Amino acid sequence: MAEIKFVETKNLKEKPDVSKIGFGTHFTDYMFVMDYNTAEGWHDARIVPFENISVSPANATLHYGQAIFEGIKAYRYDGGKKAVVFRATDHLKRLNNSARILDIPEVPFETVHEGLLRLINIEKDWIPKEKGQSLYIRPFIFAADEVLGVSVGKKYKLMIILSPVAAYYAHGFAPVKIMVESEYVRAVRGGLGAAKTPANYAASLHAGLIAHDKNYDQVLWLDGVERKYIEEVGSMNILFKINGEVVTPSPKLQTSILDGITHRTVMDVAKEWGVPAVERKISIDEVIQAHENGTLEEVFGSGTAAVISPVGVLEYKGKEYVIQGGKIGEFAQKMYDYIEGLHTGEIEDKFGYIEVAGEY
Ligand code: COI
Repeated sequence: MAEIKFVETKNLKEKPDVSKIGFGTHFTDYMFVMDYNTAEGWHDARIVPFENISVSPANATLHYGQAIFEGIKAYRYDGGKKAVVFRATDHLKRLNNSARILDIPEVPFETVHEGLLRLINIEKDWIPKEKGQSLYIRPFIFAADEVLGVSVGKKYKLMIILSPVAAYYAHGFAPVKIMVESEYVRAVRGGLGAAKTPANYAASLHAGLIAHDKNYDQVLWLDGVERKYIEEVGSMNILFKINGEVVTPSPKLQTSILDGITHRTVMDVAKEWGVPAVERKISIDEVIQAHENGTLEEVFGSGTAAVISPVGVLEYKGKEYVIQGGKIGEFAQKMYDYIEGLHTGEIEDKFGYIEVAGEY
C-alpha cells in the first residue's frame, strides 16, 4: 500500500446545525486526494485541508464529462463509541466498476480504502449525533487533462470530500410523490446507466424540473428502448411489494440501472427475514394492474442518500395512483428502522457491512 501523507491545519471550521443545512451544503476540514498520470499511475495519496482547486478552462471534464463518483455514509456506532463506515468496500468496488465503464484507470483499492478510513477517523467529530443524520462521503474522479480534442484522459484526480447531512428529502422519512416518465429517458442499454457518472444525473434534470413543476418529488425512469420496463429513480433504486413478494428491477438484467448498494442491503435483509424478494424485469403495466387489482401493497426507493423512501403516489400518463392511502407502508418502515439500526449498531451486523474507522 502506498504511503498516505497528512497535511494538518489549525484553521478548523465551526460545525453547523445539521438539521438546518439540507443535503450536501457544508464540508469538513480535510479531504483525501490522489493524482494519476500515465508515467506514475495513481500516486501522491494525501489528506490535506479542504480547499478550492484550480482547473484550466480547457479541463477535459468540464467539456466532455469523463468523471465518476460514489456516495457512502459514516455513522456514530455502538452508543457513540465508534466511528464506522457502511459498506465502504462495496462502494469502492463499484467506483472501480464505474471506472471500467468510463475508461478511467482503476484506483488502488487498498490505498483509497485506507485513506477513506483515516479521513473519517480524523473527521469523526463531524459525524452528526442525531438519528437519521450521517456524514456523507463523496469520492469522485475526473479527467484532469487540458485538451479540447475528445479522447480518453491521461491525467486524473481522485478526491474524497465529506459533508454532514440529514435526510435527503426536505420532508424527511415521509412518502414521496413520483412521476413515471414516459417521454424522456435517463439511459439506454449499452450506455452509461450502470456507472455512477455525472452524465446520468445531467440527463435527469430536465424531466426532474417538469416533475417538480407538477408537484412531484422525483421521476421514475422506464427503459429507453420500449418505455415499458421500470428502471430506477435516479437518486435511488425502486422496489415494489406485490402480493407479499418484494419485486425489483435487476441491475444484472437491465444494464442501464445502477447496482445500488442499499438495494443490495434491502434484498439481503428481506431474505434474512424470510420475505420472498426477486430481481426481475417488471413493466409499468404490471404495476398499474397490481394497483388496480389491489395486490400492490407498497412502493419504496432505496439509496445511500435516501436510505429508504416510501412512495405515496405514482403518476403515469396523467393518472395518479395512490399507494397505501399515501401513507408509509409497514414493510418500508420496518426496513428503514432495521437499516438505521445496522448503521448505528442498535441491530447486530450479521452481514459484515460495518467497517470501523476510529474510536471516540
Ligand atoms: C447517493 O445515494 O449517494 C447518490 O449518489 C444519490 C444522489 C445524492 C446523487
